[in-house]
Amino acid sequence: EKGGYPHYMLKEIMEQPRVLFETYTGLVSSREVEEAAKLIAEAGSVFVTGAGTSFHAGLVFAYYMSRIAGKPVIPFISSEYAVFKNIDHTGSVLIAISQSGETIDTLQALRGFRASGGRVVAVSNVVGSTIPRESDIAVYTRAGPEIGVAATKTFLTQVLTLSMIALATALYSGSLTKSEYREATERLKDAGRAASTGINRSIRQVELLASSLRNKTNIYVLGRGLGVPLSYEAALKIKEVSYLHAEAYPAGESKHGPIALVEKDFPVVFVATPPEAELLEKIQSNVMEMKSRGASTILVGTSSYLELEGVDFAIDVGSFDEILAPYALVPPLQLLAYRLAVVLGRDPDKPRNLAKTVTVE
Ligand code: F6R
Repeated sequence: EKGGYPHYMLKEIMEQPRVLFETYTGLVSSREVEEAAKLIAEAGSVFVTGAGTSFHAGLVFAYYMSRIAGKPVIPFISSEYAVFKNIDHTGSVLIAISQSGETIDTLQALRGFRASGGRVVAVSNVVGSTIPRESDIAVYTRAGPEIGVAATKTFLTQVLTLSMIALATALYSGSLTKSEYREATERLKDAGRAASTGINRSIRQVELLASSLRNKTNIYVLGRGLGVPLSYEAALKIKEVSYLHAEAYPAGESKHGPIALVEKDFPVVFVATPPEAELLEKIQSNVMEMKSRGASTILVGTSSYLELEGVDFAIDVGSFDEILAPYALVPPLQLLAYRLAVVLGRDPDKPRNLAKTVTVE
């Protein structure tokens, strides 16, 4: 039932082109997305929460909401809801993201938020699970069952779903015209194709990269803008399935402390995302800072970043704008985590100490 693949994790990474298209088709004229967008467009404050990978999808949502809908979103990790507990949430909306729909921390954040007057939109992969049942509106991803403990295909289907909500919100709030909205939504139809491109362009190189990283103990993953949540997700995936210590930071933060650890051959992965025009120079100087300390610099980026100097190993996922870039960039990073686990002899489907669904605090 692993579809000919040695592990569920690999099978689920490879399923992304299909499940992204299915999620798109399921949501493209959905009433739930429309209702969620109206609620969010009219909200006083908008919050987004989740745990682990779902929180990272929430950070991508916050990014798109400010860039496209012009509306700031406050992201918080669901186990930290207490920070907002004493606030009256009347007129505010919380987006609660949970693949399983059962994560206790996320459930408690949503209960607390509703009890203090707020409305909740759930984004989940499991129809009828507790989190969507207890929410005002439920929007479902269509990733199908995910067996591997590490979230892979569910992450990008969450990103797709949240992007559609962000675009619809931009339409209701007047930040996008009808035709701009239609054009952007139409582009998301190609999310699955972008994932195929990312996979095909990286699959061989990722194997080389994984064998060159196998004896390392630490890896930094750095990004800017949209690259920040994608870096967090890459580091989480590497950590949980390979047990190598991978840590992600916004690239600009690296000089405020983390760079102290960098010495000869320390691997630093840059996740380089659009818009290139805004980021290229800054990422270039981050690469040089690392390089001058002897770091081994790795780039996983869209095509324009190939002109960066000082990169030792580059994976070019192709040319994509900021709407489609995550679908091309994330699969290579997931494949890297998977390959690292395999070369180190770990079972990527069942990482030690982890459960697929965390129902205790
Ligand atoms: C990481 C991972 C976990 C989950 C987290 C939330 O690969 O699987 O970090 O993302 O436990 O789970 P859900 O989305 O079910 O609430």
